[in-house]
Amino acid sequence: MKQFTSVADVANFLPELIREAIQLKKAPFAYQHLGKNKVLGLVFMNPSLRTRLSTQRAAFHLGMQTIVVNADKDTWKMASGEGIVMDGEAAEHIKDAVAVMGQYCDILGVRSFAGLANKEEDYAEQTLNDFIRYAGVPVISLESATRHPLQSLADLITIEEYKKTPRPKVVLTWAPHPKALPQAVPNSFAEWMLAAGIDLTITHPEGYELNEQFTRGAKIVYDQRQAFKNADFIYAKNWSSYTHYGQILSRDRHWTVTTEKMALTNQAYFMHCLPVRRNVVVEDAVIDSQQSIVIPQAANRVWACQAVLKRMLESL
Ligand code: CP
Repeated sequence: MKQFTSVADVANFLPELIREAIQLKKAPFAYQHLGKNKVLGLVFMNPSLRTRLSTQRAAFHLGMQTIVVNADKDTWKMASGEGIVMDGEAAEHIKDAVAVMGQYCDILGVRSFAGLANKEEDYAEQTLNDFIRYAGVPVISLESATRHPLQSLADLITIEEYKKTPRPKVVLTWAPHPKALPQAVPNSFAEWMLAAGIDLTITHPEGYELNEQFTRGAKIVYDQRQAFKNADFIYAKNWSSYTHYGQILSRDRHWTVTTEKMALTNQAYFMHCLPVRRNVVVEDAVIDSQQSIVIPQAANRVWACQAVLKRMLESL
């Protein structure tokens, strides 16, 4: 596997990848030989806790060394775009920086969030594509402007482990948040669930429709209570508007996930990718309940990443 940026990169072997990730839990160090004397470079243009630690842990299991670069602090400010005159703040062009990092690393990971100012720019995924174009080594997305594939794979593994019926009802619900957040997690969650054949319902206030490219095949229900009925999994996430790009159209706390709404479900498990704003996105009573699986979900980030890195190492 030369790149991991969306479900399309693993669509041909998705069920096998999930089984492999679950198997890796039982023997984390079984493939240490694959990563021996190999280096994984992790470039963060934005903050991270889970992705940063789980990726390093996965690499450790596979015998790899990791180099972590906080590009917002550690490196020269980078310019991008062809033919630009670099007489501003940026001291280095991204194509030079990425090509150099590719000389030091066998695989490169990059996190680069959406700016939320310009839809076309964000959805063109320039930073991720610059890495793919110039690295000269396989590239793994640690969350890009429009997708978070390692998170979605971990989510799918978690649903596979906890589901009580072969085709559970999974509900992705918008929830309020004080800040404008990207659409990467819900976009990605929708496309991975649909690729896996999951029965997916998405509920959000009007104006928060995601790009249809990701949600085609899902049921869209504007009444959150209606959507929650008979759900087996509730996945909460805030996102800013795609149509009115990057804007917050609602802070309506009536969309917070509460115990009373969870009672409408089929004793659903509660999921969130974290970090989460407690008592804004979800009540303490829900996230701290027996039905909350946010911690095993976060733990699965290790096995999702390890399964992907293993495939990449096998194809080096
Ligand atoms: N869920 C997730 O990607 O968390 P971090 O932003 O902390 O990596």
